[in-house]
Amino acid sequence: MSFMQSLFGGVSRELIGLDISSSAVKLIELGRRGDRYSVEAYAVEPLPLNVVVDKQLTDPKLVGEAIKRAVARAGTRTRNAAIAVAGSSVITKLINMSANLSENDMEEQIRAEADQYIPYPIDEVNLDFQVLGPSTKDRSVVDVLLAACRKEQVEQRIAALDIAGLTPTVVDIEAYALENACQFVTHQMPDGGRDKTVAVVDMGASMTSLLVLHDLRTVYTRDQAFGGKQLTEDIMRFYGMSFEEAGKAKREGNLPETYQQDVLDHFLADMAQQIDRSLQFFFSASSQHGSVDQMILAGGCASIPGVEGFIQERLQIPTVLAHPFAQMAVASRARPQQLALDEATLMIAAGLAYRAFDETD
Ligand SMILES: Nc1ncnc2c1ncn2[C@@H]1O[C@H](COP(=O)(O)OP(=O)(O)OP(=O)(O)O)[C@@H](O)[C@H]1O
Ligand SMILES: [Mg+2]
Repeated sequence: MSFMQSLFGGVSRELIGLDISSSAVKLIELGRRGDRYSVEAYAVEPLPLNVVVDKQLTDPKLVGEAIKRAVARAGTRTRNAAIAVAGSSVITKLINMSANLSENDMEEQIRAEADQYIPYPIDEVNLDFQVLGPSTKDRSVVDVLLAACRKEQVEQRIAALDIAGLTPTVVDIEAYALENACQFVTHQMPDGGRDKTVAVVDMGASMTSLLVLHDLRTVYTRDQAFGGKQLTEDIMRFYGMSFEEAGKAKREGNLPETYQQDVLDHFLADMAQQIDRSLQFFFSASSQHGSVDQMILAGGCASIPGVEGFIQERLQIPTVLAHPFAQMAVASRARPQQLALDEATLMIAAGLAYRAFDETD
């Protein structure tokens, strides 16, 4: 499997989106009829602590077993999967190449010259490229987007999928998957996102990803090492609980009455500050944009009661929780009630599942 081809297209129609994140393995399969999408299957399988750390699979076997359980629970027969690697493990570069080269010649030339573009030995990376079109400056050359990913990043994931009997037919980048998922929340944007600046914030266990769209196109992305794990650790420390106890109590709301003042308010203030800081980076990086019309919160931290009100008040930006499946039919096999509880954590999985409908093959 070539990383590059798989990154940009060429897939079969039946495909599972599989997000291997730090707290769980998340699987979703979508269907499409006309322009209506449906959820055909889904499962979330928690992962043991420290099995996925900084996007590295420290134990592909344990991850593989969790994927296997997720596939069984989802009850799907589909065995092709789209997975993602973190943007931080991928280097992308825009290069120019002669417009009259064939795809094969181009690949050969890129391989031969790769060391000019990539700071790693060629045999340690998976390479992919996509011709974007004629260069605006010089019509005799085309703009080519080159992407290189450390092989180990892909290989760890393939090893885990292998244990679960899945074939990775698409390897995407997380930020692209999140961008693809944004089409499922346009119903929550003013004017469907047209001409608007919308910030989507995915607050997971260890990472907060900000994606800013303008007129439905990505204009900015930023990852920060901040997430719900921090809140769990604060709870552990304050009430003397184990990590598991604290995580469970947090999700079930089973904490002392003083939890809000003791712990939660500090965490929320921190979170608001982190998001605000990322937005300030965006504003300073982009002179055309000075404000955000709408914020959409996703990830497990979006389940913290009252989080959207808190963020809205602090940042003075209209804020809602992501409902990516609100306009989809949900098969009974996909357990609609449970799905509704998990939906904000499934943005990346949904963006990956969307690759089943690639137009490029
Ligand atoms: N009801 C809840 N209240 C508070 N926190 C919650 C709730 N439900 C889930 N979380 C927290 O959300 C986090 C998991 O979210 P999510 O599934 O988005 O993370 P992830 O995708 O595994 O992490 P990452 O993307 O950082 O690798 C955990 O820290 C979990 O404790
Ligand atoms: Mg996540």
